[in-house]
Amino acid sequence: MTAAPLTDREISLVRTSLTVVAPQATEMTVYFYAILFARYPEVRGLFPENMDVQRDRLLRGLLRIIDLVDDVDNLVRFCSRLGRDHRKFGALDAHYPAVGECLVASLARFAGTAWNDEVAAAWTHAYTVAAQVMIDAADDDTRLRPASWEAQIIRHEHRGNGIAEITVQPDQPFPFVAGQYVSVETPWYPRTWRHYSPAHSPRADHTLTFHVRAVHRGQVSNALVHHAAPGHRVRLGPPQGDMTLAAAGDRDLLFVAGGTGLAPIRALIEEAAVSGMRRYADLFVGARTAEELYGLDDMLRLAQRHHWLTVRAAVSHESIPGQQGTLPQVLREFGPWDRHEAFLCGPPDMVTSGVRTLLHQGTPLAHIHHDPLDTPVLTAPLTPPRPDQEIDQL
Ligand SMILES: Cc1cc2nc3c(=O)[nH]c(=O)nc-3n(C[C@H](O)[C@H](O)[C@H](O)COP(=O)(O)OP(=O)(O)OC[C@H]3O[C@@H](n4cnc5c(N)ncnc54)[C@H](O)[C@@H]3O)c2cc1C
Ligand code: HEM
Repeated sequence: MTAAPLTDREISLVRTSLTVVAPQATEMTVYFYAILFARYPEVRGLFPENMDVQRDRLLRGLLRIIDLVDDVDNLVRFCSRLGRDHRKFGALDAHYPAVGECLVASLARFAGTAWNDEVAAAWTHAYTVAAQVMIDAADDDTRLRPASWEAQIIRHEHRGNGIAEITVQPDQPFPFVAGQYVSVETPWYPRTWRHYSPAHSPRADHTLTFHVRAVHRGQVSNALVHHAAPGHRVRLGPPQGDMTLAAAGDRDLLFVAGGTGLAPIRALIEEAAVSGMRRYADLFVGARTAEELYGLDDMLRLAQRHHWLTVRAAVSHESIPGQQGTLPQVLREFGPWDRHEAFLCGPPDMVTSGVRTLLHQGTPLAHIHHDPLDTPVLTAPLTPPRPDQEIDQL
């Protein structure tokens, strides 16, 4: 970091004023974007047309920065990730002072009597430190890879229950590691990015296949499932995520998948097979009904080819031969998993309760892996929590 770290006094001023504006976060965010777009109309084109969805993310990013302001290592880690991620948005070095100016003006307006010159200077300092780390990380990243990859949809297959398997061919090689996820921008919602996980290990032809489920009233997922077709073009952001086999050491593997959460889990299993793995792996695939158990046949076929893989289904809302119960219930039944490396992916509720079950069975948090449950750049773990934080943080 080139800018001097914040003093204790500055940290205290920033945090105190933030508690004053926090209850007015929604109004402040509206005001922030209004003055940003009025004063700097050239940046409007970087943002999605519909600013109602997830408008709070910038503010949540700032809150995270303020939270980390006295934890320099994690602050740098978070801001670096954020800065690299901003390349695909088209954010330039010159935009940072504009955003900083409008942010400080918005804080001043909503902090009322809690605002004075000293508080303004502390905020300007905090923003400058964070922005500099973002700018430096983005600049370093330009030497390594493109900001985004253009790709063409070459296959689109409906798999029932509102799920489509979509294969894209990037115009140039797209390096990623099995288990990672990718942000995707579609032509129907420009500058609106959503994350999807390739369902396989890297292929020689660089194609990527995503499993996308159309969520009720969801913009991008419905466009991808119901409008996308071969020939349409999409844009991909750089691969992200730490849910890879590199994290696994030499322990046996436990995989838990719900819905399209099977995609990255399938990628990890395929990677394990490609690498000639000598460990055992248990996969639990969960759904509410047997009909929703998508991808199970594919996984059972894999298990027939690889003796080290055992596949079990868990159905929570229906009585069928085989397994019945929620994923956490069947995990309890077949556990403990305290000597396994666990990978979970699926709806946030399922992942959260699955992690809880594993922790209670003695699996250390360091051996449990899952993707961020929400906006990845905001919720990705930084350093592993201390053991005493393990259960509380879920
Ligand atoms: C790390 C990561 C990896 C992901 N991988 C995949 C994947 O491989 N396949 C896949 O299909 N999706 C995946 N997702 C979810 C995906 O990124 C989108 O959130 C999802 O497709 C909805 O986007 P949308 O634009 O259609 O919905 P939006 O327009 O953003 O949301 C519209 C409405 O749907 C609700 N909603 C949003 N997401 C969901 C959801 N998942 N379930 C139920 N309701 C929801 C919102 O609350 C809102 O009310 C992943 C998400 C993350 C964070
Ligand atoms: C310290 C400064 C900044 C912080 C903390 C910050 C924070 C964030 C966060 C957390 C997100 C959400 C990321 C995601 O959804 O993956 C975001 C999105 C975005 N940011 Fe920033 N940002 C900063 C500076 C800038 C600058 C200078 C620009 C350029 C004008 C910019 C443009 C954007 C755009 C276009 C998006 C996508 C918006 C959307 O999807 O709705 N940001 N920012």
